Amino acid sequence: MSTAREVLSVRDLARRVPAAHAPGRLLLGLAGPPGAGKSTLARRLCAELTGAGRVAVVAPMDGYHLRNDVLRARNAVARKGEPDTFDAAGFVADLRLLRRSRIGEPVPWPLFDRAVDEPTPAGVIVRDEDVVLVEGNYLLLTDAQAPGWAEVRPLLDACWYLDSPRAVLTERLLARHLRGGRSPEQAMVKVTDSDLRNAELVAASRGRADLVLTGCGAGYRIG
Ligand SMILES: Nc1ncnc2c1ncn2[C@@H]1O[C@H](COP(=O)(O)OP(=O)(O)OP(=O)(O)O)[C@@H](O)[C@H]1O
Ligand SMILES: [Mg+2]
Repeated sequence: MSTAREVLSVRDLARRVPAAHAPGRLLLGLAGPPGAGKSTLARRLCAELTGAGRVAVVAPMDGYHLRNDVLRARNAVARKGEPDTFDAAGFVADLRLLRRSRIGEPVPWPLFDRAVDEPTPAGVIVRDEDVVLVEGNYLLLTDAQAPGWAEVRPLLDACWYLDSPRAVLTERLLARHLRGGRSPEQAMVKVTDSDLRNAELVAASRGRADLVLTGCGAGYRIG
């Protein structure tokens, strides 16, 4: 048993990942606001699980970003990252495929290439993995929050929520946008007008998580 204040290592968290019911796979969601560290935790958990004799893969929600030409046609480029700038229906359809597939059956999954700011179709092929770490912002939304997303949660066996203090999110997101080529002013506008608004929407879904974690140094605190 762990207390609420205990700091858990990635190894501790890996032990909390439920067993798969072979021949099906275990789908574990990792939700949370932009910049919380979901992709980082997913990568770390994947390595830890794989080292512990399971076979894990990361299936990010990010690969379902609509392409920039579609966003331009919808006049939605500035809103990139909001729930309706993703192909939620495609994400749900592929989650259903994963849900139905047996370990060993290939299921292509798109990735998101930050260097070109576009999705890469079939960026990874899920095949032999018994654990799929599905990570992204909007896994726990209701349809009242954003149409189309409520179908996600029932397709996951469990869903964890990774949080970070707002100041940490702001600092990380600013750094990311500066690295991506935005000026300091543009980066600040993107963070305050877009990322942090999305973070608030995501925060309202936190109560639906099976486990809430907050990054704490090299580890993760419960709650
Ligand atoms: N536990 C941690 N300690 C320190 N830095 C971290 C930690 N987790 C993530 N980071 C850093 O925070 C930044 C954001 O992390 P990451 O890309 O994993 O977040 P994310 O939740 O996947 O964001 P997004 O929703 O935008 O994809 C990265 O620079 C990463 O290196
Ligand atoms: Mg990420």
